[in-house]
Amino acid sequence: MIAEIAHEINNPIGCIYGNLQYVQKYFQGLLKIIEIYEKEISLPPQISESAAEIEVNYIKEDLPQLLLAMKIATERAKQLVYSLRNFSRLDEVKPHPVDLRSCLDSTLIILNSRIKNKIEVYCDYQEVPAAVEGYAGMLSQVFLNVISNAIEALEEKDSKEKREIRITTEKLNEKWVVVRIADNGVGITQENQAKIFDAFFTTKPQGIGTGLGLAISYQIIVEKHGGKINCYSQVGKGTEFVITLPVKFSLPAAAPISV
Ligand SMILES: Nc1ncnc2c1ncn2[C@@H]1O[C@H](COP(=O)(O)OP(=O)(O)O)[C@@H](O)[C@H]1O
Ligand SMILES: [Mg+2]
Repeated sequence: MIAEIAHEINNPIGCIYGNLQYVQKYFQGLLKIIEIYEKEISLPPQISESAAEIEVNYIKEDLPQLLLAMKIATERAKQLVYSLRNFSRLDEVKPHPVDLRSCLDSTLIILNSRIKNKIEVYCDYQEVPAAVEGYAGMLSQVFLNVISNAIEALEEKDSKEKREIRITTEKLNEKWVVVRIADNGVGITQENQAKIFDAFFTTKPQGIGTGLGLAISYQIIVEKHGGKINCYSQVGKGTEFVITLPVKFSLPAAAPISV
């Protein structure tokens, strides 16, 4: 359903975005003509009066800025729709080339309102193959789960220290790539580290935690992609999730996820 809605929203946004450049061009043309009129012809008083009434001079200054703001806003909307598509691909019956950086960036765009002004995110995408084979929608889901947990761990922390998330991608060798997602949040006790991948294990209040995020992520990485997901954490210091994925897919096609 999200894929369909994203597609439906994409068309009107495309229309607005596509036409804005013409509005900008036409406006500039009309402005030029007004200027020529003003210079060449002494305007009858009713025109000067109307011009003063609608504050033409102000419009001349303000309209280009409005158009620019609209352009930036539609660009953002386009990006968001594009990102949503990454999460809800309809063509995920077979593994396909997945651009991990694009999945990570889409996830950050979707989580932007929970991140901005509160958390510093550092991305260091080292040379990884342009695409690994897998399921983009499912992998984006994993990144969403892990980064959401990082955000929640940072929200729980009450020290004044800067809140940070560090995301890196790295090529281990010809066969494996690694994605690391680290935060300097509250951390996880040794005892809990043994349980975090269990379905329904949560330390969050009812209604906030479902305890399913990491259980589903584990299934996606280990069972659907033949990869690994590990957690390293120290209470009070932070947590790092290390996701290792094969560059080439070698498993049978995915069955639906069940927890
Ligand atoms: N980055 C993290 N920092 C601290 N604790 C974490 C982090 N990621 C996961 N956890 C712990 O693992 C538990 C399970 O996570 P998850 O499966 O996503 O379920 P939920 O987020 O709904 O609780 C969380 O309740 C939390 O205790
Ligand atoms: Mg979670």
